[in-house]
Amino acid sequence: MTENFWQFSYLVAAVTIILSIKWLNSPATARRGVHAGQIGMLFAIIGTLLRHEVVSFEWVAVGLVLGSGIGVPLAYLMPMTALPQLTALSHAFGALAAALVGTAEYYQHAPTGFLMGALVVETLLGFLTATASVMAFGKLQELVPTRPMTYKGQHVVNLGLLAFAIFLAGWVIEGSAPAWAFPTFSGLSLLFGVLLILPIGGGDMPTVIALLNSYAGMSAAAMGFALNNKLLIIAGALNAASGFILSVIMCKAMNRSFTNVLFGAFGQVQAGGGAAATAKPVRSATPEDAASILANAHKVIVVPGYGMAVAQAQHKVRELTDMLVKRGVDVQFAIHPVAGRMPGHMNVLLAEADISYERLHEMEDINSDFSETDVALVIGANDVVNPAARHDTTSPIYGMPILDVDKATTVMVIKRSMNPGFAGIDNELYYDSRTLMLFGDAKQFVAEIVKELPKAA
Ligand code: TAP
Repeated sequence: MTENFWQFSYLVAAVTIILSIKWLNSPATARRGVHAGQIGMLFAIIGTLLRHEVVSFEWVAVGLVLGSGIGVPLAYLMPMTALPQLTALSHAFGALAAALVGTAEYYQHAPTGFLMGALVVETLLGFLTATASVMAFGKLQELVPTRPMTYKGQHVVNLGLLAFAIFLAGWVIEGSAPAWAFPTFSGLSLLFGVLLILPIGGGDMPTVIALLNSYAGMSAAAMGFALNNKLLIIAGALNAASGFILSVIMCKAMNRSFTNVLFGAFGQVQAGGGAAATAKPVRSATPEDAASILANAHKVIVVPGYGMAVAQAQHKVRELTDMLVKRGVDVQFAIHPVAGRMPGHMNVLLAEADISYERLHEMEDINSDFSETDVALVIGANDVVNPAARHDTTSPIYGMPILDVDKATTVMVIKRSMNPGFAGIDNELYYDSRTLMLFGDAKQFVAEIVKELPKAA
């Protein structure tokens, strides 16, 4: 009876997790996707607790209290802008759990053949993902220097260590390895995770985190084989595939090749980081000017970026949208795939402010509309609207697809200063004759426009 019930729980969990990923694909169904994922996890946990292998619930309770004690405050206290860091930490915990289960299984049951093969894959990927994720967290939080840390012969050292770890793994699988082999193999896996991240710049961390997500999934799938747990195989494989696909999408959107992200810094320092803004003249405007231009527009496209997230301006942006729509202005939003600092960053913020997803358009779908748009209102976005990406072959963002805001009749850019964005480069859009700079914090500036709009003729 219990056996049937946990099998049934696992089946429900597998189906809901698959549906969850499908629903997360579109803003219209994303909330349903999150709930389905939560229900799936609940069934997975219930099913696991019902298994007869669980001999004592005391340790499970200790783990539950400890995990919730860390997870709940983390989720509440981490600001939205630090979500990549939070994701890195949760991968570190997940991967460490997989590696520790593998270690316990090795010492308790010492499987042989294929099962031992799955176990060493699980342990290798689990340990290396754990330390790599902690390093990624450190780089994003700037606790570790964010610049690529390189030295001569680095790749030889890294590949040498990995080769030795794989040799030890082979020995362990073969069955005649001495007692020191497994702990040494585990230690090398931990070390390799640190060394893997050292040469990668902080800027590439979000992509690397998506890749680490994939490694953690592979580790969990391998654990599923080692423990003969079908749910872990399914969930781990889904995690591995989606993490990998996401990192490929991010690389494409930033015009980086995969190997460039992972190995680009070997022996070379990445471009970017604090190019000073030049002293060319720009035209600036006041909230009154901006309100009057917006009030007289027929079509406005809002382009949100990282600055909107920093300022938490999304609710004010919603107020502005509602007021403009009431006045008969057609307001749409253009979302660049890597605007902000994590995939879907802008969609999450705009959904939080209840801006209808029907107004949100992906870059490919809306780019041709800019030429028929009166005002492109850029709120805290910089690199994703930099025309240098189209024509300046020396630019570090050359080739990155951008939103063509410079084709609109008027471009208004809200940001606090002439400081560069993530790529550390100046933006020629700001000096364009069609561009008006609206200097200020995004939330405050939009609030002032909202105040001025009723007075605008
Ligand atoms: P950025 O190019 O980073 O520019 C953000 C701009 O926001 C800055 O120039 C800043 O100028 C402004 N800003 C900051 N705080 C503000 C505030 N309180 N009020 C108003 N403006 C504020 O952002 P983007 O255009 O969204 O581009 C994203 C960049 O991140 C791309 O280079 C992308 O490749 C990179 N990236 C993205 C991801 C993902 S997955 N989204 C992952 C890794 C890297 P001021 O300081 O003058 O205000």
